[in-house]
Amino acid sequence: MPLPLNKLARRVRGLLQRKLFSQDPIPARYLILRALDRRFGIVKAYQRKLDYGTIERANYGHCMLQSAMLARKLGHSRISCIEFGVAGGAGLVAMERHAEATRAETGVEVVVFGFDTGKGMPAPEDYRDMPYLWQAGYFAMDVPKLRARLKSARLVLGDVTETLRNFAEQENPPPIGFIAFDLDYYSSTVAALKIFETNHRYLLPRVACYFDDMVGDIDWAYNDFTGELLAVKEFNAQHKDIKIAPVSGLRFSNRRIPQIWHEQIFVAHLFTHPDYGKPISELTQLPLGAD
Ligand SMILES: C[S@@+](CC[C@H](N)C(=O)[O-])C[C@H]1O[C@@H](n2cnc3c(N)ncnc32)[C@H](O)[C@@H]1O
Repeated sequence: MPLPLNKLARRVRGLLQRKLFSQDPIPARYLILRALDRRFGIVKAYQRKLDYGTIERANYGHCMLQSAMLARKLGHSRISCIEFGVAGGAGLVAMERHAEATRAETGVEVVVFGFDTGKGMPAPEDYRDMPYLWQAGYFAMDVPKLRARLKSARLVLGDVTETLRNFAEQENPPPIGFIAFDLDYYSSTVAALKIFETNHRYLLPRVACYFDDMVGDIDWAYNDFTGELLAVKEFNAQHKDIKIAPVSGLRFSNRRIPQIWHEQIFVAHLFTHPDYGKPISELTQLPLGAD
């Protein structure tokens, strides 16, 4: 029996609200493209998959691919990517997958590190850690389960204040090109940001950064006076030669679909790095062209 007209209208309206007006203001044609690619793999180029958000954690993939491309231009064949705050490990496993794809695209090998206590959140230190959102023990890791899933990523377990202290000297990582900051707390992020104070040979001159905890609703109330955003603000005030800044116009670049995570990508600029001014642009001429 055909659906009565009012029921059909309600269904169509519900579908439109769910599919077309959910979360991101993404045009319907892109949502259809995304669904088709997820189901049938119709988009071939990895960069395009990232631009259209058809693969999981495109934010990680985009930063990893871009930093591998930068590394190649600077003459490096290997880079490191780091996730600060691993929890169950879904992000680190995705990072491993993007590392393989990045290598296939660029030939640059990506070494992945994941930092976590292994026991969940430590106790919040004060209001700047936003204790109304997080408390000790949240997000505890099942270490054996995660280790069994990981193929190559290295887990660095312990409080980041301790584990980061001699990390570079002990591990001798290839230059770090991308860091996902997802430690939630202000105090933990302050500790993690010290990675930019390590010797320049362990860092690319511009390091892509993703900050997980800066986009949310009024109940989360992310702001400049607490949490990750405060840690970044203070870091910039304390470092004359290193600045962590958002990437202006990222969401409009390269005909990509604007996504929330574009707001969460920053670049750490190491102005005194010996390679900071090394030319990388392929655009060197702008001819007038024919009449
Ligand atoms: C929200 S979870 C990370 C989620 C993960 N990135 C993902 O995408 O699935 C935050 C993690 O940060 C870790 N963490 C917070 N402060 C830390 C510190 N000082 N040292 C090490 N790990 C810390 C916690 O153990 C917790 O697992």
